[in-house]
Amino acid sequence: MKTEFFHEPDAKAIARAGEILRSGGLVAIPTETVYGLAANAYDAEAVKNIFIAKGRPGDNPLIVHIADLSELKPLVRSVPESAKQLAAAFWPGPLTMILPKSDRVPYEVTAGLETVAVRFPSHPVANAIIRAAGLPLAAPSANLSGKPSPTNALHVYEDMNGRIDAIVDGGDCHFGVESTVITLAGEKPRLLRPGAVTLEMLRAVIGEVEMDSAVIEPLAEGEVAASPGMKYKHYSPKAEVYVLSGSPEAFIRYINSHCDEKTAALCYDEEANKINCATIPIGKEFDFSYQAHLLFNSLRRCDELGMKRVYAHIPRRDGVSLAIYNRLMRAAGFKVIYV
Ligand code: TXA
Ligand code: MG
Repeated sequence: MKTEFFHEPDAKAIARAGEILRSGGLVAIPTETVYGLAANAYDAEAVKNIFIAKGRPGDNPLIVHIADLSELKPLVRSVPESAKQLAAAFWPGPLTMILPKSDRVPYEVTAGLETVAVRFPSHPVANAIIRAAGLPLAAPSANLSGKPSPTNALHVYEDMNGRIDAIVDGGDCHFGVESTVITLAGEKPRLLRPGAVTLEMLRAVIGEVEMDSAVIEPLAEGEVAASPGMKYKHYSPKAEVYVLSGSPEAFIRYINSHCDEKTAALCYDEEANKINCATIPIGKEFDFSYQAHLLFNSLRRCDELGMKRVYAHIPRRDGVSLAIYNRLMRAAGFKVIYV
C-alpha cells in the first residue's frame, strides 16, 4: 500500500484525511498526547484493519475520539454526573473516560467489552480531521504494537509507512505520553492509566478515585487486566532497559562502573557530563512535564544509537511523574536495580 504523507496539516490534507476515513481507510493523525491511528469507529471492517496494521492483539480495545461534547451521548448508554464534571474540567484534553457502550459501537472497537473508551482531544488538527470525517474516530497510538508510542510524524512513518493510507504531520506532540484513562463504569471511579491529567487533578474534581494496581505493578499470574493494554510488555526499545533506584550520586557511580560502548544512560541534563558512556538527556531533574514530553523519543533514541543496555532513573510516583513511572517500568519489564 502506498502511504500518502502530508507534511503540512493544511485544508487540503484535512479534507483528504476526512475523505479517506469516510471511505473506510486508516489515517495517522496528530493529537496533543501521541499520534493516533484513526478509522471510522462505526465501521467494523475499518477498525479490524487498525489491528492488522499495528499487529495489535485482538483483545486490546481502542479509544473513540470526538470533537464535540454532544458526540459523547450516542456512544454510551448514559452520562453519569462524574463524567459531566470531568468533561467540564478536562475536555478537550488528555483524558479518556470509560463508560458502558451504546449499541452503535461495534465490539471490534471495544474488543468484545460492554464498555467504550472516549476522548475529546484538544489538538486543533485532530479536531479538524474528526469534523472533516463527520464521524467519531477509533484510534490507538500509531506505533507498531509493543514499540514506544509515536510523538512525531517521523516515528509514525518508521512504523507505519506502507501499512496505512495516510499520515498527517502536525509537528511534535505537546504532552508526549498517552491520555489518562479513568473508568466510570465500575462501582467507584478508577484510574487505569496515568497521564498528564494527574490522579491529584481527578480527585480534586470528583473526590475519591481508586488507582488500579496495574498502574504501578506487574499483573500477577492469571490476573485479569482491568485495562487490557496494561498486560502487554510495552513501549520497549530493542535495548534492555533497567530502572535504577537510589540517589543521583549512586546512579552516576553505578553507570560509570558498568559502562561499555553499547550502554546508554537516560540521564538528567545536568548529569550528562559526569557520565562516561553514551547519554540520552531527558530534561532537567525536576522538569517532569518535559521528561514526559521526551520519554518515548528517548526510548526510540536508544535503538537509533544501537544500544544494548539502557539505565534510567526511577521516576517519582506523583503528579505527571506517575505516568513516566508507569511507561518506563513497562519498557523495563519491571527490572529495577537498587544502587
Ligand atoms: O492519548 C491517547 O490516549 C492516544 C491518542 C491517540 O488519543 N491513544 C492511545 O490509545 O493511547 P491506545 O490504544 O494506545 O491505548 C488505549 C488504552 C489501552 O491500554 C486499552 O486497553 C485501554 O485504553 N482501553 C480502551 N478501551 C477500554 C475499555 N473499554 N476498558 C478498559 N480499557 C480500555
Ligand atoms: Mg498504545
